[in-house]
Amino acid sequence: MIKACIFDLDGVITDTAEFHFIAWRKLANSLNFDFNKEFNETLKGVSRIDSLEMILKLGGVEKTDAEIQELAVIKNDWYVDLLKGMTQDDALPGVRDLLIDLKAKGYKIGLGSASKNAVPVLKFLDMLDFFEVIIDGTKTTKGKPDPQVFQMGAKALGVKPEDTVVFEDALSGVQAALNGGFTAVGCGSPENLGHAHHVVAGLNEVTEEWISKL
Ligand code: BG6
Ligand code: MG
Repeated sequence: MIKACIFDLDGVITDTAEFHFIAWRKLANSLNFDFNKEFNETLKGVSRIDSLEMILKLGGVEKTDAEIQELAVIKNDWYVDLLKGMTQDDALPGVRDLLIDLKAKGYKIGLGSASKNAVPVLKFLDMLDFFEVIIDGTKTTKGKPDPQVFQMGAKALGVKPEDTVVFEDALSGVQAALNGGFTAVGCGSPENLGHAHHVVAGLNEVTEEWISKL
C-alpha cells in the first residue's frame, strides 16, 4: 500500500529542466560546441559536476579540475539568474492541487533531487511547507541512478521503498527508483521513460485515487 510519495524537483514540480538546458548549452557554446535535446535527456537527474564532465567529453574539451570547478560556477550563476523571475505560477500544471490532496489524505511527502538549488526553487514556488523531508544534492554522496537519494528520503519519512512511489522525469532518476525497489512513475514521454512502472505526461494526469490503486 502506497503511504508516501517522493518527488523529483527539476522537470517534475517545475520546468527548471529547461533552465538547466539553456545554461549548459550557453556554456557549451562559449566553448565552441553545441548539443541537442536528445543529449540533454542524458543530463537530467545528473549532478552539476557529472553533467559538466559529460558535456566536456561530448565537446572533446579537456580542462583541469580547477577549471572544471570554475565552469560549474559560471553555469550555476547563469542558471540562478534564470530562476530569479520564478513565482508560484511556475509550478507545473496539477502539482499544487495534487500536493494539497495528498497532504489532506495523510500521505507522507518528500523531495528527492540532485540539485543544490532545491530549497531556493521550492521557496520561489511557495511549496517548501509541503515537504516533510527534503533530500537534495547538498545531502547525497552518490548520484542517480544510485538509489541513495530516495533511500535517504524513505528512511527519513519512516516508510519502506515498497510503500513509496517516486515521480521522476529523468532516465537516471527512474533507474534510481527501480534500483531502490520503489514504484517508479515516469513524468514525460514513454520513449524516454519506458523502463518506469508507469509513465504519465505530467503530474496533472495523477490523482490521489490513482496513487491509491498502485
Ligand atoms: C537535477 C537536474 O535535478 O539537478 C540536473 O535534473 C542538474 O539537470 C542537477 O544538473 C544538479 O542541479 P544543481 O541545481 O545543483 O546544479
Ligand atoms: Mg528531474
